[in-house]
Amino acid sequence: MQATAIAQPNIALIKYWGKRDVERNLPAVGSISITLCALYTEVNVELVADLPGDVLLVNGVENQPMLPRVSACLDRVLGEKRAFARVASDSNFPIAAGLASSASAFAAMTVAAAAAANLSYTSEALARLAGATSGSAARSLFGGYAELSNSGDTINVSSLCEPESWPLEVVVAITEPGPKPTSSTVAMELSRQTSPFYDRWVLQQEHDLDVARAAILKRDFAQLATIAEHNCLKMHSVMWASRPPMVFWNAATMRCLQTVRRLQGEGCNVFFTIDAGPQVKAVCLPAEVERVRLALANTPGVQKIMTSSLGSAARLVNAA
Ligand code: PMV
Repeated sequence: MQATAIAQPNIALIKYWGKRDVERNLPAVGSISITLCALYTEVNVELVADLPGDVLLVNGVENQPMLPRVSACLDRVLGEKRAFARVASDSNFPIAAGLASSASAFAAMTVAAAAAANLSYTSEALARLAGATSGSAARSLFGGYAELSNSGDTINVSSLCEPESWPLEVVVAITEPGPKPTSSTVAMELSRQTSPFYDRWVLQQEHDLDVARAAILKRDFAQLATIAEHNCLKMHSVMWASRPPMVFWNAATMRCLQTVRRLQGEGCNVFFTIDAGPQVKAVCLPAEVERVRLALANTPGVQKIMTSSLGSAARLVNAA
């Protein structure tokens, strides 16, 4: 009655920001992501008959604040009449810092919980279950390039392209490893309720998705770069114009953008994207990765650099 699964975080190139149904966690906009291979979360779920309640260990330390979300995720996968679980989640990167740790954690937890209870679900069904807890987690059920759609009555994810078919590299510049101040769920609702740009954001998303999807299908780096940067800056503009404003960037975030602009000016195939945190992800062609890594490592304020190729889908490691 225990199982361990691994999932990798994914980085959205066309962002999910806003919910059309908070209760069912349905996104207001579709999104397109790439799954990373060097970053991972490993989750062990053990179902224990005489446990008085669920227990969560994050990187070896008991964690109460995240427990209600974890219990709700287990209820969805196993049903509410279930044994309590001991859940251990270990990540090799900073958590809750805008590096999509909830995506990898809930994707791995969903796979591990289902296997611990000997339940078999399709990837699409697992994505729906994971996505009900964290929208972006649904995308980590797939490797390479994945699309989370905003249509239909449930969470819908599909694979756009396998990682080997277009092997891009990602350089992550960590400018602040501490936790971010606002959760994505709270921040998205604040944007929907208060940002004057929110409706425009939702309206334009189909166009951005079409352009990005076409760029991926024809492996057009320049087209993907332009639309991904535009979509990222638009999402942050929605946040900046919310009340109270949500500015996740710091001075080093901005310096990293300048570094990417300089590299682009020198002909380097690279673009940036930033999620709900101050870290900068630079996406580039494999031949450019060392140049991009060095340039970002030498950017003042960058505390740590991680590089990653594209990764595969969440998967089971063992079950007994
Ligand atoms: O899935 P959540 O609730 O962690 O929200 C993800 C939000 C962003 O990372 C900013 C964008 C995205 O599409 O991943």
